[in-house]
Amino acid sequence: MKATQSKTPILKYFLISLILSLPLLLLFTSLQPHLHRRHHHPTVTDPTSEDLKIRPGYSSYETYLQRQLNKTLNPKLRQIWTTRDWDRKIQVFAKFFDELKRKNLLSNQSKALCIGARVGQEVEALKRIGVNDSVGIDLVPYPPLVIKGDFHKQPFDDETFDFEFSNVFDHALYPNKFVREIERTLKPGGVCVLHVAVSRRGDKYSANDLYSIKPLVKMFKKSEMVDVRKVDGFGLDTEVVFRKKEKIQIQG
Ligand SMILES: *[C@@H]1O[C@H](CO)[C@@H](O)[C@H](O)[C@H]1NC(C)=O
Ligand SMILES: *[C@@H]1O[C@H](CO)[C@@H](O)[C@H](O)[C@H]1NC(C)=O
Ligand SMILES: *[C@@H]1O[C@H](CO)[C@@H](O)[C@H](O)[C@H]1NC(C)=O
Repeated sequence: MKATQSKTPILKYFLISLILSLPLLLLFTSLQPHLHRRHHHPTVTDPTSEDLKIRPGYSSYETYLQRQLNKTLNPKLRQIWTTRDWDRKIQVFAKFFDELKRKNLLSNQSKALCIGARVGQEVEALKRIGVNDSVGIDLVPYPPLVIKGDFHKQPFDDETFDFEFSNVFDHALYPNKFVREIERTLKPGGVCVLHVAVSRRGDKYSANDLYSIKPLVKMFKKSEMVDVRKVDGFGLDTEVVFRKKEKIQIQG
């Protein structure tokens, strides 16, 4: 009995100090991305800013492709994507796209492209809400929803699409090329919607890390940012919307 009594104050002080240190702990956790940034010096292979880092470890484009394919071709993951994940993901994507429709950024008549679509749940979501002319590209095709295509060199003519969506920006080894290709294949006035991770880190297959949306705004040279908001999209926390500028009419 006596022993328990003498332990109790210690336990009490321990608990109090634990509770008092919680805010500090939380603060520290929220500062982590910045600490990470300061102590991390990856090789920058793309002319980017402080807020966009290319991950080191990709000695060549081949190495990069191998790594991306390793995830995309993983039979266990593909099984999950096409069964357990299928409907759940389609419903989440459909909600995102419906909101974009309400904001007049997307319509049933839009010709739409999903970049890095894997098995194409986002393409299926577009079709379900009535955006029938939709297709996806990925390194590994999943017909008919997803055809073969590298987002660093899209297999489409200039000014093909009204709408492009992607949640794989973090997989781009050459973010500038990724954006340049979107702006090339979008029609003037076309809309690009990206889901990106700004305050959280991507997975081990990510090729870059974004610390703010500033680098995106800088890379979309032919577009203007028309919307940005927080979302909860499969580990990605920010939706950024760009609209490609109309061509300047040269008066004769
Ligand atoms: C992916 O990498 C792992 C380990 O490096 C390897 O065992 C596996 O065979 C690879 N899978 C594919 C599809 O390349
Ligand atoms: C778009 O298509 C969906 C699904 O077919 C339909 O319910 C909706 O009414 C259509 N919207 C417009 C504006 O036509
Ligand atoms: C889209 O496809 C659905 C189902 O096939 C059809 O009912 C609808 O009329 C189509 N919408 C347009 C705009 O073509």
